[in-house]
Amino acid sequence: MSDGPKTVAEGGHAIESVLTETRTFPPPAAFAAASLVGSEAAYAAMVEKAEGDHEGFWAEQAGQLEWAAKWTRTLEWTAPDAKWFVGGRLNATASCLDRHAASWRKNKAALLFEGEPGDTRVLTYGQLHREVCKAANALGALGVRAGDFVAIYLPMIPEAVVAMLACARIGAPHTIVFGGFSAEALSDRIKDSRAKLVITADGGWRRGAIVPLKDNVDKALVGTGSADGGSPANAGVPGRAGGSPANAGVPGRDGGSPANAGVPGVERVLVVKRTGNAVAWGPKDVWWHDVVGTASARHVAPSFDSEHPLFSLYTSGTTGKPKGILHTTGGYLTGAAYTSKYVFDLRDDDVFWCTADIGWVTGHSYVVYGPLANGATVLMYEGAPDAPTKSRFWEIIERWGVTVFYTAPTAIRAFMRWGDEHPAAHDLSSLRLLGSVGEPINPEAWMWYRDKIGGARCPIVDTWWQTETGAIMIAPLPGATTTKPGSATRALPGIAADVVKKDGTPCGPNEGGFLVIKRPWPSMLRTIFGDHERFAKTYFGEIEGVYFAGDGARKDADGYFWIMGRVDDVINVAGHRLSTMEVESALASHPKVAEAAVVGRPDDLKGQAIVAFVTPRAGVTADDALATELRAHVTTQIGALARPEEVRFADALPKTRSGKIMRRLLREVASGSTARGDTTTLEDQGVLETLAQAYASDD
Ligand code: PRX
Repeated sequence: MSDGPKTVAEGGHAIESVLTETRTFPPPAAFAAASLVGSEAAYAAMVEKAEGDHEGFWAEQAGQLEWAAKWTRTLEWTAPDAKWFVGGRLNATASCLDRHAASWRKNKAALLFEGEPGDTRVLTYGQLHREVCKAANALGALGVRAGDFVAIYLPMIPEAVVAMLACARIGAPHTIVFGGFSAEALSDRIKDSRAKLVITADGGWRRGAIVPLKDNVDKALVGTGSADGGSPANAGVPGRAGGSPANAGVPGRDGGSPANAGVPGVERVLVVKRTGNAVAWGPKDVWWHDVVGTASARHVAPSFDSEHPLFSLYTSGTTGKPKGILHTTGGYLTGAAYTSKYVFDLRDDDVFWCTADIGWVTGHSYVVYGPLANGATVLMYEGAPDAPTKSRFWEIIERWGVTVFYTAPTAIRAFMRWGDEHPAAHDLSSLRLLGSVGEPINPEAWMWYRDKIGGARCPIVDTWWQTETGAIMIAPLPGATTTKPGSATRALPGIAADVVKKDGTPCGPNEGGFLVIKRPWPSMLRTIFGDHERFAKTYFGEIEGVYFAGDGARKDADGYFWIMGRVDDVINVAGHRLSTMEVESALASHPKVAEAAVVGRPDDLKGQAIVAFVTPRAGVTADDALATELRAHVTTQIGALARPEEVRFADALPKTRSGKIMRRLLREVASGSTARGDTTTLEDQGVLETLAQAYASDD
C-alpha cells in the first residue's frame, strides 16, 4: 500500500448513496420455491455445515466433479501455501465435457454463439467434446506437452473455448491475453509466461472493424527474441515503440530492448481464420483449420495431479509489472463449479449469458469452466453492445431466450445512459436472474437493472471476487438472500470473509476496514508465476495470517458486506483493473516525459477514470498536442483501456521532503476538490495551484 487506505469518499462515486441505502428485496416467492437453496433456513444450514466441517464441506463440492483418482487429504495448509484434494487426479475437461457427452446431454447445446456480423453457431456437448479432442491432438502434434504454457489471444469465438479446453485437456496451462491489450502488453505477458505456442486469429470483429490480432502477435514476437528472422510477417514492423530510445533504460518496460535477447521463444503460432483479411505469414505460423480441422476426434483424457497448473492470468498489482496469477486444476474447478451452481442457481433449461470476455477471469470461470462443469448452456457473443445498434444485447436475450444474465456495472450505467427505449422494445421475459460483477454497483444502477431489465421480477446477485480468488466469494444465494442495492450481501457458505483493522482485529458494524479471507478456499491462487515471494508478501504479508484482498469494505449490522473499492494503487476503470504504476511507467517511457504520476478519479460511467499528471522534459511544450500524443502512447504500450481520460502538466509533482509523490493530494486535485488534507509535508506548495488547473482533455 502506498499512503494508506483511501477514505470512504475516495472509494467510488456511489459511496454516499450506499451509506444511506435502506431498501431491501427478499427473493420473490416463485423464484425461491423453484431454487436450489430456497430459504434463509436452508442457507443457514449450509453455512453451519461449512463452518462445522470446512474441509468436509469442500470435499463434498469437489465430489461433484469427475475424478480419475480420489484425493487422500482434502487440504494441506501452511500459510500462504495451500494444496487442495491432495493426491487426487483429474482432467478438467472430463468434468466439463466427457461426462456430459456420455450422457443425455450429448445433444444438448453447450455453446450458443453469435458473432458481431450476425453469424451464429451452436455446438452441442457432443460436438464441443469432438472439437476439443481434435484441438488437443493438434496441439500435441505441434509439440505442446503437459506443463508447457500456451498464450491465447483470440476474439470471443467458439475456438477460444475450444483452445482453452484443449490446453486443459493435455495439461498445458493457458494464459489468455485480452484482445484489447496492445502488442507491447501481449509481448510482456508472452515473455513472462514463457509460452511455447500462441493461439490467435487473423482478426476479430469490433464495431464493424477488424481487430488486428495476428498483426499484434507478429509485433509482440519481435520483442520475445523469437522472431521468425526475416520473415515478412515479423520483420521491421513499423510503428512499434519497442527498441526506440523511448524505452531504453526504463525499468519494467523492456519491450524490444537488448534485454530480450535470449528469452525462450514461441515455437508456433496457431491462427484461426475469423475475419478473412490478409495477414502476414511466417514459418512459425500454422492455420487452425489445417491442423485442428484434420486431426482425429479421438483423444483419451490423461489425468493430472489436483495441483497441476490449469492456467495463469495476468492482472495488475501495485507495481508496474502485471502479476501472473496461477490457478491449479482440482481446487479452481471445484470453486468455479460450486459457485456457478449456487449463485446462478443453474438449471438444465437455463441459457446462461456472462458478457465478460474470456480474457478476464470472469470469462474463465463463468463463460467456460463453471457453467460447462454443470452441463449448462452458455451464450457467447463476439462484439460490442452497441453494434450495430444500442439494442444488440436485448435482441440477443430475446432471440436466444437468455434466462440468466451476468454483466458489469459499467455496462449497466452505459445502458441507462442510452435510454430505456432500447430494452423496452424487446421481450426480456425469459430472464429469471441477473448478476453484476467487477466493481461496486451504485444503488441507482442496481434499481434500474432490476426494473428495466429484470422487470422487477428477477433477483440480482452482486458478486464480489477477484482474479486471485478464482471464483465468487461474496454474493447472495438468489432464492435465499434478501438483497440490498449496492451490497454484495454475505460470504458464500465455505468462505470466511471479514472486515478487519490493520492489526487484524475485526471492525465493528459499519466501521470501514480491510476485506480479508480468514481460511483457505479451493479456488485461491497458488502463487504469482515466477515470484512466490511477491505472492506471499502481497496477499499474506499485509495482515497477519489472513488473505488480504486489497479492497476496503464495511459490514452493516446485518453482516452484509459493502465493498468500498481498492485501498492500494490499483484502479478499476470500467471494471478493468489497472495499476497506477503500470500507466506511469508507460508514460515515463515517452521521450518527452520527465516524470508522471497517475491517479483515479470518480467517474459516473466507468466507476473510475484515469488522470495523469505529467512533468515534461526541459524544452518540451506542454500543450494539447502533447496530451494527445501521450494518450496515444499509453494505448500503444498497454491498450485503449489504460488511456488517460485527462492529462495535466506541471513543472513538478507534489512530493514529500523525502521525495515520495503525494498521491492523496493528486487524487483530491483530480476529483476537482481543493486539497483538503494535510499539506505540511509538501515540499513545494506552489505545485498544487498549477495542477489544479486542468490542462488538456481531448476526445
Ligand atoms: O475491487 C474489487 C473489484 O474488482 C477487483 C477484482 O478485479 P479483477 O481481479 O479484475 O476481477 C474482476 C472480476 C471478478 C476487486 O478487488 N470488484 C469485483 N467485483 C466487485 C468488486 N467491487 C465491488 N463489488 C463487486 N461485486
